[in-house]
Amino acid sequence: MNRKLSVVIAGGGSTYTPEIILMLLDNLERLPLRKIKLYDNDEERQNKVAKACEILIKEKDPTIQYIVTTDPKEAYTDVDFCLAHIRVGKLPMRELDEKIPLKYGCVGQETCGPGGIAYGMRSIGGVLENIDYMEKYSPHCWMLNYSNPASIVAEAVSKLRPNSRVINICDMPIGMENRLAEIIGVPSRKDLDIRYYGLNHFGWYTSIKDKSGNELLPGLVEHMKKYGFINGEKEMKTAEKDSWFETNLFAKYIVETDPTTIPNTYLKYYLFPDYVVEHTNPNYTRTNEVIDGREKDVFTACAEIERNGHSKGTILKIGIHAEFIVDLAIALAFNTHERMLLIVKNNGSIQNISDDAMVEIPCIVGKDGYEPLTIGKIPTFQKGLMEQQVAVEKLVVEAWIEESYQKLWQALMLSKTVPSAIIAKQLLDELIIANKGYWPELH
Ligand code: NAD
Ligand code: G6P
Ligand code: MN
Repeated sequence: MNRKLSVVIAGGGSTYTPEIILMLLDNLERLPLRKIKLYDNDEERQNKVAKACEILIKEKDPTIQYIVTTDPKEAYTDVDFCLAHIRVGKLPMRELDEKIPLKYGCVGQETCGPGGIAYGMRSIGGVLENIDYMEKYSPHCWMLNYSNPASIVAEAVSKLRPNSRVINICDMPIGMENRLAEIIGVPSRKDLDIRYYGLNHFGWYTSIKDKSGNELLPGLVEHMKKYGFINGEKEMKTAEKDSWFETNLFAKYIVETDPTTIPNTYLKYYLFPDYVVEHTNPNYTRTNEVIDGREKDVFTACAEIERNGHSKGTILKIGIHAEFIVDLAIALAFNTHERMLLIVKNNGSIQNISDDAMVEIPCIVGKDGYEPLTIGKIPTFQKGLMEQQVAVEKLVVEAWIEESYQKLWQALMLSKTVPSAIIAKQLLDELIIANKGYWPELH
């Protein structure tokens, strides 16, 4: 395939849209584009970034056609790739996902625990709606979906749209590998060969090798016991001490739970929930940081570009960490057989986990989609943790389909982040009220 491609960004009003546009524009030689569209169901929000994105595109390549729309037909007609990053309920609902659980002494987090469950119940319908538009207007199109909570969304898609051309992917391993590459002192994460398995936001590296095949994991574990994912004393001193710094540093405690692996930082919410709750300000959570930080910065920068009519001097940057989206699109369009971590049906890859679990494992990606690699048997510790979490995610999707109060209560009860059935029920009752209009009505 050497024709130029057409992409639509679903969730066009996202704070990530400008950096993804810049990243696409920076990769036109690898992924030639003839059309970029933004699609959102909130016109006002999308307009906060739309004009600036138009200017960025015109500056780089005025031959690229640019369309901004809230009309699904216009958005999804004649597209080869949909990059989907929607947030149903937007940041105000994320804030409730974080703050309601904290009232009950539980982890308040975007994708983990009760917050992730609540978000999952909102996301499923939004993602399915976009898949249906895609299939109606561009049946050959691939959706590269990173709308969260990715595990629950992936489970729902696999169950309700099993034949759809949707690939679920997360940037967290990329972020962690970039950090490991820096710690090791190699230019790029692509200089490393890794082995990893788990669920989304719930996994472990079992091998990190350099290109000569030397195993670096034990040495990295020693580093991590002191600094987590922080790059030594220098970064300890210079880094901005936001919640991501804390999370990266906290990995030093997680690594102790199984020093034969390097853990995903998100495991802290499952393995250290009491610590997390104790160290979270219930009145100022990550959403507040995002609203006061990324959202403000991105929208202000976009307004400035719009006012000036050019982007010279802008603080907007290419989303380097989002390069995996381009890699994935290129693998599909040009059959590169790149090895990537994707969220896919297990189907025997992890031998001692059920076939229908949605797992995050390395896959080879080419023109016809992905082929998962084999992991083999995993240890009892990881198996136990994963099976519990898989059951939570399955119960959420069943609750959504069957509109079942009972199953959603069970999902909350089973979550490692919720201590008892009583608290699970109180939480559920408050989450139902907060999510009115976003969740199916539960019976
Ligand atoms: P945001 O609220 O800034 O933007 C999301 C946009 O989606 C909003 O403009 C909203 O109006 C739009 N939207 C909501 N429902 C929609 C629908 N049904 N159809 C079309 N548009 C819809 O959110 P954000 O902070 O930029 O994050 C966007 C999403 O990307 C979130 O789901 C976030 O969790 C996810 N994300 C995932 C990864 C990953 O690794 N998987 C990384 C970063 C962000
Ligand atoms: C990582 C995760 C995403 C998550 C994001 C939250 O990138 O992989 O799944 O949405 O972090 O970041 P934020 O800055 O919005 O808290
Ligand atoms: Mn993620």
